[in-house]
Amino acid sequence: MSGKIIHRIAEVRSKLREVRALHKSIGFVPTMGYLHEGHLSLIRRARQDCDFVVISIFVNPLQFGVGEDYAEYPRDLSRDARLAFSNGCDLIFAPTVKEMYPQGFATFVEVGGLTEHLCGASRPGHFRGVTTVVTKFFNIITPDHTYFGQKDAQQALIIERMVTDLNLDLTVHILPTIREADGLAMSSRNTYLKQEERRAAPVLYRGLCAAQEKIEKGEREVENLINLITEIITSEPLAKIDYISIVDLDNLQPIQKITGKALIALAVRFGQTRLIDNIIVEV
Ligand code: PAF
Repeated sequence: MSGKIIHRIAEVRSKLREVRALHKSIGFVPTMGYLHEGHLSLIRRARQDCDFVVISIFVNPLQFGVGEDYAEYPRDLSRDARLAFSNGCDLIFAPTVKEMYPQGFATFVEVGGLTEHLCGASRPGHFRGVTTVVTKFFNIITPDHTYFGQKDAQQALIIERMVTDLNLDLTVHILPTIREADGLAMSSRNTYLKQEERRAAPVLYRGLCAAQEKIEKGEREVENLINLITEIITSEPLAKIDYISIVDLDNLQPIQKITGKALIALAVRFGQTRLIDNIIVEV
């Protein structure tokens, strides 16, 4: 295991100037830490594609609403460093909140339209926090390639939109969701689940798979598909649905019938823990 952890922006910039001077390509994986196999798959892919791999570890207060889990979010830098470096990361950028948002900070990056639905509706301000911090990271690290997980499908689409709209000079890669053996999408938040909740949580993926099967058998009506998923998820008494939506994959607008590519996305609470998951379907 080798690699460097840097906490200061000036130091990261100076290190990356050296990397650039050697004409090396830079791959970047933004994370909030408490790494799992989903993050590691992104790091390994960056390792394959790029000469130098940077990850950020920063629990970004700007993307958490009042009453959300900012304080509880799991943090363990030495565990993360071990996992990141043994999967091909060269440098971890782990700034403090003060380093990222010094006194007087007042500039935000906001993507319109795509941020209004799904998680944007349940978590006002969340995506503004994400796009602001990710833009700052892109400016600090100046990557050639960046990697996001399909599990946060809305976030991934918003980042792609932002990169296009702001003419940012980098390629965004969206990689598949990594799942536990029972289908639960990997997430740092899974660590919050009590034993009974963890047992119940795979119902999300079962609901999504049942919808996919129905579509394969010819169902196209979104209302019927949402009813089916709702029925499966509510069969778990611990599951409290936040939303189940089927939307156009390009603009995230709700659709009535599946006619091409669509995103089936959901958010469900188990006790205090809010989990999200999604699949892309195509007819
Ligand atoms: O997906 C996440 O972990 C976060 O939203 C991100 C992209 C690291 C920004 O804080």
